[in-house]
Amino acid sequence: MENLEGRVGVITGAASGIGRAMAVAFAAEGMHLALADVEEGPLGDTAELVRAEGVNALAVPTDVSDPEAVEHLAERTVSELGGLHLACNNAGVSAGGLSWEVDLDTWNWVLGVNLFGVIHGLRSFTPRIVASGGGHIVNTASMAGLTSPPGMSPYNVSKHAVVTLSEAMAVELSMTHPEVGISVLCPGWVRTRIHEADRNRPSDPGAPIDTAVADEEGEQAAMEGMRDIVEALIEGGLAPEAVAHQVVDAVREQRPWVLTHPEWMEMVRNRTERIIAEEPPSVGFLPGLSDGAG
Ligand SMILES: NC(=O)c1ccc[n+]([C@@H]2O[C@H](COP(=O)([O-])OP(=O)(O)OC[C@H]3O[C@@H](n4cnc5c(N)ncnc54)[C@H](O)[C@@H]3O)[C@@H](O)[C@H]2O)c1
Repeated sequence: MENLEGRVGVITGAASGIGRAMAVAFAAEGMHLALADVEEGPLGDTAELVRAEGVNALAVPTDVSDPEAVEHLAERTVSELGGLHLACNNAGVSAGGLSWEVDLDTWNWVLGVNLFGVIHGLRSFTPRIVASGGGHIVNTASMAGLTSPPGMSPYNVSKHAVVTLSEAMAVELSMTHPEVGISVLCPGWVRTRIHEADRNRPSDPGAPIDTAVADEEGEQAAMEGMRDIVEALIEGGLAPEAVAHQVVDAVREQRPWVLTHPEWMEMVRNRTERIIAEEPPSVGFLPGLSDGAG
């Protein structure tokens, strides 16, 4: 979608981090935006930042794991902003622990937001983009969708699913609606609040999710160590604005993959080669841990 000016977009997870940065970047290109998130106050702040770029902003408090809420968001976008050309399915949360110990509430929460949030978005937004004459979809996955780091299986599972969904949909769209493009965003570490995702958890699990499930002392220490590593890596990560600019370019250039950390591609190659060679998996992108396999 080369010409962005005057077009209409919807962005989920727009109250913080990458979502907010994408909102400001697309507004700077002249796009009118519907902004969705569960955090109403910060969502209003994003709407102000968008309006400051001289375009319209519609803030719609939305839980993306609720299909009716997402459908309502899509309806309001079209009726109040006059169409739909860009959809960024970006809202996300993170949680982990030892795969076999993660409680079902956590699995349901992470998959509900990260995977079903994207599915609901695709179902509600795609027909409206087609009806508006075409445009582009951006699904936020992660490098966790291209590798399999330990201690964060619900997150990995959701992001691998978003990658394969986006790949399949790219082919489906090219066969049925070539006027609609699709990209999948797979960042490495980005300086956002993703490691504080618990703030948006609907029910209080009573204790930090990634340690509450690890009963054994050794397991608990390992989980805490992993959490500290992840926190430090996120705080030293890429600025969300840099990610947002790459997304704007990808939409303009119809690029299917937005890989913001080229230095991480070696890990993807390594994983793929291990699969082909039938070798055991490695720790992926948690460099503070060692599995002895490199
Ligand atoms: N930060 C990173 O290192 C990183 C790396 C790869 C991928 N990602 C992905 O980027 C996306 C954006 O995350 P971020 O890093 O900006 O984190 P963030 O926590 O700063 O922003 C995520 C936003 O999603 C919102 N959200 C959470 N649950 C929601 C729900 N049910 N409905 C609607 N909105 C909801 C939050 O309120 C928040 O505003 C996520 O999908 C995340 O998985 C982040």
